[in-house]
Amino acid sequence: MSQINARMDLADGHSIPTIGFGCYDGYGDEMVQAVRTAAETGYRYFDSAERYRNEKEVGKGLAESGVRREDLYILSKIWPSSFGQTEETFDQTRRDLGTDYLDAYLIHWPGQDKPARLKTYEKMMDLRSAGKIRSLGVSNFLPEQMEEIKEEFGEYPVIHEMECHPSYGQRELIFRCRARKMQPIAYSPINRAVDLNSDTVRRLAEKYGRTPAQIVLRWHLEHSVIPIPKSVHGDRIRENFDVYHFELDVADIIAIDELEAGARAGKDPRTFPEA
Ligand SMILES: NC(=O)c1ccc[n+]([C@@H]2O[C@H](COP(=O)([O-])OP(=O)(O)OC[C@H]3O[C@@H](n4cnc5c(N)ncnc54)[C@H](OP(=O)(O)O)[C@@H]3O)[C@@H](O)[C@H]2O)c1
Repeated sequence: MSQINARMDLADGHSIPTIGFGCYDGYGDEMVQAVRTAAETGYRYFDSAERYRNEKEVGKGLAESGVRREDLYILSKIWPSSFGQTEETFDQTRRDLGTDYLDAYLIHWPGQDKPARLKTYEKMMDLRSAGKIRSLGVSNFLPEQMEEIKEEFGEYPVIHEMECHPSYGQRELIFRCRARKMQPIAYSPINRAVDLNSDTVRRLAEKYGRTPAQIVLRWHLEHSVIPIPKSVHGDRIRENFDVYHFELDVADIIAIDELEAGARAGKDPRTFPEA
């Protein structure tokens, strides 16, 4: 199987590419070019969100790449302040990205308003029934918030996107997701480049003749976690995708596991975003 076609099965019968391109924090022509370069490199999954305020640029880059819609995997997310306008927010995202449907739509952060969160999930289920969304997911959810969806709707979302990198490996949450057939996606997969400076990662980069970023991204794949690295630089975009033609020895996977430091670099869903 070529890496462009490498996919993982989701619990709802759909499948998702095993690596994605992170679309946060790039704007204007630079972002259009980055998305286009990523698609030309072979990335098929694009990790977008209304909150990133660049979905038009993402859509333009995808259109310019010439990759067929059916070969792309387009994921976006709804922010808690939009919970009261789920259909309108979804529709704006869909138009900005230039697509009739999304492969996946996620609740970006749980927020502090449980009824509004559950209502949004219900509306997302309606959009799925109407054929406008294929798979539903969540991001930054606490374990009890995953259970609330199951209790209310009788299903778990099939995707959970979470902060995950060697310094914050999320082993417990990933374990819970696996038991519930929720596919983990790792955001900030290289810890915004901080984890590339680790002595262990540098030593392994030398051992395998790879870059530190490739070692860390390969570590995610070894754990069947989908990494979504972001870069606006063509050389890094290509470097981050070139992670399929080698494997890490088990001892080296464990050595990276042991970099766990137990601290998030990003926000804490128990308090962010405020109501
Ligand atoms: N669901 C959520 O709440 C959530 C939160 C945060 C992020 N995300 C998603 O996850 C994606 C990735 O996360 P992230 O952007 O926070 O962090 P990241 O991918 O871990 O790191 C991105 C940073 O690392 C640099 N970089 C990329 N590749 C590199 C390489 N090979 N060597 C050295 N430096 C490199 C980038 O710089 P340059 O761009 O200058 O190359 C950028 O500064 C986002 O774009 C977004 O799609 C989701």
